[in-house]
Amino acid sequence: MLDIQKIRADFPILSQKVNGKPLIYFDNGATSQKPQVVIDAISKYYQKINANIHRGVHTLSQLATDAYEISRGKIQNHINAKHSHEVLFTSGTTFGINLVANGFAAILKPGDEVLVSALEHHSNIVPWQMLCEKTGAVLKVIPMNEKGELIMAEFDKLLSKKTKIVTTNHISNALGTINPIKYMIDQAHAVGAAILIDGAQAVPHLKPDVQDLDCDFYVFSGHKMCGPTGVGILYGKEDWLNKLPPYQGGGEMIKEVTFEKTTYAELPHKFEAGTPNIAGGIVLGTAIDYMNGVGFENIQKQELELLKYGTKRLLEIEGLKIFGTSQEKTSVISFNIKGIHPYDIGTIIDKLGIAVRTGHHCAQPIMNYFEIPGTIRASFSFYNTKEEIDVMVEAVKRATLMLS
Ligand code: ALA
Repeated sequence: MLDIQKIRADFPILSQKVNGKPLIYFDNGATSQKPQVVIDAISKYYQKINANIHRGVHTLSQLATDAYEISRGKIQNHINAKHSHEVLFTSGTTFGINLVANGFAAILKPGDEVLVSALEHHSNIVPWQMLCEKTGAVLKVIPMNEKGELIMAEFDKLLSKKTKIVTTNHISNALGTINPIKYMIDQAHAVGAAILIDGAQAVPHLKPDVQDLDCDFYVFSGHKMCGPTGVGILYGKEDWLNKLPPYQGGGEMIKEVTFEKTTYAELPHKFEAGTPNIAGGIVLGTAIDYMNGVGFENIQKQELELLKYGTKRLLEIEGLKIFGTSQEKTSVISFNIKGIHPYDIGTIIDKLGIAVRTGHHCAQPIMNYFEIPGTIRASFSFYNTKEEIDVMVEAVKRATLMLS
């Protein structure tokens, strides 16, 4: 079992007060907190080796380049990619999805189909809509049921030779549903379609094995897994990354430039134009080391306990409804209280030091499905405790009394 108090001591922010109360941070779906080792690594980079990478022969540039590439290797191992050049640094999940969607503009023809799941964050809807507008391809939606699960029988029916790419999240940010991605990947491949998995909400909880999954693309952000903001990863199979055109032109992504013609660099540099977030890339490796040190099995055990306990405790509150009741679910509880706007609860419990997200969670189609304006979302991390859940439950009860 994890020693949670010891783990909590790694995160300086968790011991502070907010609005005069001890911080209870239940907005991990939006971003995770950072352990001291990650904060120190950022500072150490700027104090000791700050220089631009892949550009200079001087010592600092080489040190920074080595650290950046070592981190790429760590991430390759972590997700079990076959080659390190299949691991591209991006600014985050949104950038990765846009890069792939933009690349498919060179592949799709009018009448081709793009399948997107009903459970998506806007960042995994809008780039595909833009792609369809550009190419004349048709966007089709894999529907969901009342529990917030994708309906696989409908997915199977939607798949055809016209399907060129399927896109789904691994875990829903709004409801916590864990999607059956292995099945979806196999089914997509059976009709010759590519598949992209948005792993932004999955990587804080589990270690994806991209070779075992056999997905074509897997995207995620560093900041939800104890790393810094502004850095993320796009994993793509080598064949696909070779097939897709570059997303941005600029320095570092070229082999040779003349005014007549430019040839592009090999992977991964073809997709890494411009000076990247060097510190972010290096420190993402530190964050992954930290999480592996805690251990994903331990993380999952603790988070499952919190999910079970939080669900039971919240359901004690009269008029409270949980949205997202899939069997396969991570530590996210989205809920509403009859007759009360989620924003009002969120505002009151913030005064009591409790951070949750309220609103549509950048997933308006899910809210439309349930015919609600939004939810209150408590998303737990391995450093949260049952005692914190108790405090939240009392705070929600108090807010409910004030607002009824
Ligand atoms: N996608 C993040 C969330 O769900 C920001 O809160």
